[in-house]
Amino acid sequence: MMKVVVFGASGYVGTSVYKLLENQSDIEVVGTYLETKPVFDELHKLDINEPESFSDFFKKENPDVVIWSVMNGPNEYELTDQGLLHLITHLTPATKLIYISSDFVYSDGKGPYTEEDSLSTLPDDHIYSNYTNAKVKAERFIKNELSNYMILRAGPVYGENQIGKLDARTDELSYHLRSGQPIAFRGDLIRTFVHVEDLANTIAELVPKDITGIYNTGPSTNKSFYEFMSGMAEQLGYDASLVEKASEYEEADEEVPKDTSLVTEKITDIVNQRFR
Ligand SMILES: NC(=O)c1ccc[n+]([C@@H]2O[C@H](COP(=O)([O-])OP(=O)(O)OC[C@H]3O[C@@H](n4cnc5c(N)ncnc54)[C@H](OP(=O)(O)O)[C@@H]3O)[C@@H](O)[C@H]2O)c1
Repeated sequence: MMKVVVFGASGYVGTSVYKLLENQSDIEVVGTYLETKPVFDELHKLDINEPESFSDFFKKENPDVVIWSVMNGPNEYELTDQGLLHLITHLTPATKLIYISSDFVYSDGKGPYTEEDSLSTLPDDHIYSNYTNAKVKAERFIKNELSNYMILRAGPVYGENQIGKLDARTDELSYHLRSGQPIAFRGDLIRTFVHVEDLANTIAELVPKDITGIYNTGPSTNKSFYEFMSGMAEQLGYDASLVEKASEYEEADEEVPKDTSLVTEKITDIVNQRFR
């Protein structure tokens, strides 16, 4: 029986990955949470940044596959410098790491990007530098130290996960439109939006496969936030004319990468999962 550990199984994406793997009879799955004890299952409370408890947990579980679905807003840097480092020092080539990365590693914002395009960091005083630079550093760490890994890069993840939780953006959209209030999104920021279930199914499909490398994930279509959210409003049965175009003005240290969309042909060649 294959043993899989999902770090961040209480999170938006991690929940779906955990639940999908739990339903597979040939897989034993163990999940971790930090603060949000989920109602759905027995997960292990673990701070990935804490060396002793991490080491005890990892030695006890000794997984065949590890899935990194961890994120921590302003403390993302610690997750790479401490948590990921702890994980890397414990991994042997027998254990495969599936690391969920982000389109923000292409922070130059001149997409669409293929897997071979170079990554870029943001200046330290930039509001997105913590997350972006932590993800870039994490990818470099993994590439330098490991051989048995997959890095899956994803743009904004949306939709209902396995326990009916929506992403924060769609949640906010519904909240505004339900009460008849307009809401604005930028028309100049282009992304590859990926449905949480498509991403989770892809990961579940890749778990038993003997494949390594870096893959952009998501559909072949790219949209601006404005386009995407207008479509979403319609899909949810709301008055889409309440979705407006937001101002494109921004301060230099708050500039959002413009086009971080992904070329996703490589992943569609290796999985059966189709991206909506
Ligand atoms: N959501 C997106 O749009 C998006 C887009 C691109 C890439 N990604 C990537 O997808 C992955 C999952 O993201 P998500 O949206 O599911 O995030 P999320 O909902 O914020 O979940 C984050 C998870 O990490 C756990 N966590 C945080 N700090 C931890 C620590 N120190 N030790 C152990 N666990 C810790 C959280 O536990 P508690 O909740 O229990 O505290 C939670 O389970 C991340 O790697 C993220 O970078 C997400």
